[in-house]
Amino acid sequence: MITVVIGTQWGDEGKGKIVDLLAKDVDYAVRYHGGNNAGHTVVIGEKKFFFHLIPSGIFGKKSKGLITNGVILDLSVLTEEIKIIEEQGIPLKDRLYISPRCHLILPYHRALDVAYENARGDKKLGTTGRGIGPCYSDKVSYNGIRMYELANWDLFKEKFAFQLGIKNKILETFGVKPLNLEEELEKMADLRKAVIPYMVDTYQVIKEAIAKDEKILLEGAHGIMLDTDWSPYPYATGSNTVVGGVNCGAGVPDRKIDRVVGIVKAFTSRVGGGPLPTELHGEIADSIREKGHEYGTTTGRPRRIGWLDLEAVKFACEINTISDIAITKLDILNGLPELKVCIGYELDGNTVPYSSCGYEELARLKPVYKSFPTWEEDITGIRTFADLPKNCQDYLNYIQDFLGVKISIVSVSPERDSNIYRQ
Ligand code: GDP
Ligand code: IMO
Ligand code: MG
Repeated sequence: MITVVIGTQWGDEGKGKIVDLLAKDVDYAVRYHGGNNAGHTVVIGEKKFFFHLIPSGIFGKKSKGLITNGVILDLSVLTEEIKIIEEQGIPLKDRLYISPRCHLILPYHRALDVAYENARGDKKLGTTGRGIGPCYSDKVSYNGIRMYELANWDLFKEKFAFQLGIKNKILETFGVKPLNLEEELEKMADLRKAVIPYMVDTYQVIKEAIAKDEKILLEGAHGIMLDTDWSPYPYATGSNTVVGGVNCGAGVPDRKIDRVVGIVKAFTSRVGGGPLPTELHGEIADSIREKGHEYGTTTGRPRRIGWLDLEAVKFACEINTISDIAITKLDILNGLPELKVCIGYELDGNTVPYSSCGYEELARLKPVYKSFPTWEEDITGIRTFADLPKNCQDYLNYIQDFLGVKISIVSVSPERDSNIYRQ
C-alpha cells in the first residue's frame, strides 16, 4: 500500500498532523522533496514537534524514515532534528536512511537567498531565507554538491572551494561579506561525520518494500499553489509539489501509488508574497489568525488569511488525482460573523480557471463567493459527523460535492486523536 499526502493550498494545511496519524502502522515514512523551508507540526499529548526534514511519520510504531533524492539538506538543521528525536528515546541509526543523491544546502545558498531578497527591495518574494531557490538552481545547472560527494572528503573539498569562490564573487557584487573557506570547511567536516552513517541507496529500500508489499507513506511538503510549474511563478518554491514529484523525488513509480490524500485547511493561509485571491483583511482575518495560531512554523511570520478557495483546491484535486480529503482546522471557524467559500474566478467579465492565471491575473480577478450560515458551537470534542452542528455539516457536504472527492477525515484540533472519520 503506497499513500501520498499532499497539501492542496499554499502550505501549512496540517500535513504534519495527518501524516503522523496515517503513520500508525506504516513501514516507511518518506520525505521526497523540498528542504527545511517546510515546517510540519506533530502534537502528541503535551509534546509538540516541528519537523523540517525528518519525515513526520517517524513516530509510527514500525516506521523507518527515508529522506530520498528529491530533498535538499541543510545538515545543521538535520543534525539538530536527529538530536531532538533521539532525545525522545528513538534511536535513528538503522531507522533513518538518507539518499546519497540528496543535494546539500550550503552556507552560500543561504547567503544568496537573503542577498537576492534584499536586492529585490519592495518586490521581495518573501522566501524563507533557507537557501532553497539557490540550492535547486545549482542542482539543475550542474553546480550542486550532494551527499554523494560528502562521502569522499577530498572530492567534496575541491568542489566546495570552487563553488564558494564563484559564490563569493556574486555575494561581493551584492555588497555582502564573502564566506571564509577554512571556517566553512571546518563546520562541514563536523556535520559530515554526523550524517554519513545514515547514507543508504533509498531506491533499493523502496524497491524491496514495494516487492514485499510493505506500507509506504510519502509526505508532500509545501502546497500545490507553491509548485515551481503550477504556482503563480515566481511566487513559488523550488520543487515540484504535485504528486509527480514522488516519481522523480523518491523513485516510486506513479502506477504503484494506491492513495493520494489531499489536505485541505477549512480556510486559506499563506506566508510570503504573491497574490492570494480570497485574502481577508481586518477583524475576521485577525480572529482566525489568533485562534488558529497562524504563524509560520519555520519563520514565525504571521500568515495571511483568506476564505477557502475551492477553485484552486479543485485544480489541486485534478492534477494530483486526489483520492480522498482530510479537512483540517474546522474547529477554528465557529463563531464567525460570516462564512464564505470561493467557487470560481471572474476576470474582466469572464470566468477563468486557476490554471489560466499568472500572478497578474490572480491579483486582479474577482472571486465568486458562496455564503454559508455560521455555527457557534465549539466542535473540538466532537468525534462523529452526525454530532457536528447542522451548518457545519452543510459546509463540509458542499465542499465534498463541489470537489467531487470524498472527505475521509475531519480534524478538529492539533492533537493526534481529535478526528472525525467518514466511511
Ligand atoms: P503543515 O506544514 O501542513 O504540516 O502545517 P503546519 O504544521 O505548518 O501548520 C498547521 C498548524 O495547525 C500546526 O500548528 C498544527 O498543530 C495545527 N493543526 C493541524 N490540524 C489542526 C486542526 O484540525 N485544528 C487546529 N486547531 N489546529 C490544527
Ligand atoms: P510547509 O511544508 C508555507 C513559501 C515561502 C515563500 C515561497 C518561497 O510547512 O507547508 P522558499 O523558501 O521555499 O524559496 O520560499 O514559498 N513556502 C511555504 N509557505 N509553508 C511551507 O511549507 C512553505 N515552503 C515554502 O513562504 O512564499
Ligand atoms: Mg508548515
